[in-house]
Amino acid sequence: MKVVDTFEAARELLEGSVGLVPTMGFLHEGHLSLIEASVARAETTVVTVFVNPLQFDDGGDLDDYPRDLERDIRLAADAGASVLVAPTRDYMYPTRPRTSVMVDEVGDAMEGARRPGHFIGVATVVTKLFAGTDPDLAFFGRKDAQQLALVSTLASDLSFKVDIVGCPVIREHDGLALSSRNLRLSDDERRAATSLSAGLMQAALLVETGVVDVAEIVGAARRMADATDGVQVEYAELADAHSAVPAGELAGRRFLAIAARIGDVRLIDSITIEDGAVDRGVPLDHPSILYGGA
Ligand code: PAF
Repeated sequence: MKVVDTFEAARELLEGSVGLVPTMGFLHEGHLSLIEASVARAETTVVTVFVNPLQFDDGGDLDDYPRDLERDIRLAADAGASVLVAPTRDYMYPTRPRTSVMVDEVGDAMEGARRPGHFIGVATVVTKLFAGTDPDLAFFGRKDAQQLALVSTLASDLSFKVDIVGCPVIREHDGLALSSRNLRLSDDERRAATSLSAGLMQAALLVETGVVDVAEIVGAARRMADATDGVQVEYAELADAHSAVPAGELAGRRFLAIAARIGDVRLIDSITIEDGAVDRGVPLDHPSILYGGA
């Protein structure tokens, strides 16, 4: 695997079909599953590692975001990536960005409503990553279901010829969705955080037994987190998987998302629902490499 810090250098290395895996680094099995999905489908897999300041509405969260490029290089190479691009902040934003990308409607509810400017930052950097690497395929996790809908919409609206591929949520053995932010949880917070996925699994069971009442399903999703000390639920919402507009009924493809603050850490999780079937994600059978395994 070659490591470069500019798109110009990366483009010299791209051959055949290109799969892009955008990340903010501190890779875990969720990212590795995206890299493996890309390696299976594209001739060249490019991983980008860039902690994008534009998408952080909370400066503390940006400062505390874990970073370890040497570790990311090793893990991405082992997973089969061909090129890793780790641009500097000055390269990505040599001036204050004067152009930004705003995806209407898809970014309005849920994360967009709670994190002003967040999705403008995501859409702007993803547009730059698409322009810089010109991928045929780009891989995003379904944990960030609203982000996936937003990126799909921007790719289509801005005529990028990239196929956006959504990949399953990867979970710890106890259900917690993998996130680099999990590292910042204390032991007690880590235990409390499992209430998010536990609630989603309760909701999944309701859906699978034929319940269609959205208030009941959403209520089940947030009940455990609401009842857990130290967890402040920001929202639990059912939304259309393509438009990310909150939905009042279970028709078509939907996602059920929950977001909460646990101490200083903000976590989100989601499941996908279609025709009474639920995609809960994939549990690991071993502790995540986030905890020092790599
Ligand atoms: O999901 C993420 O890690 C980020 O939002 C992304 C897509 C890499 C853009 O910075």
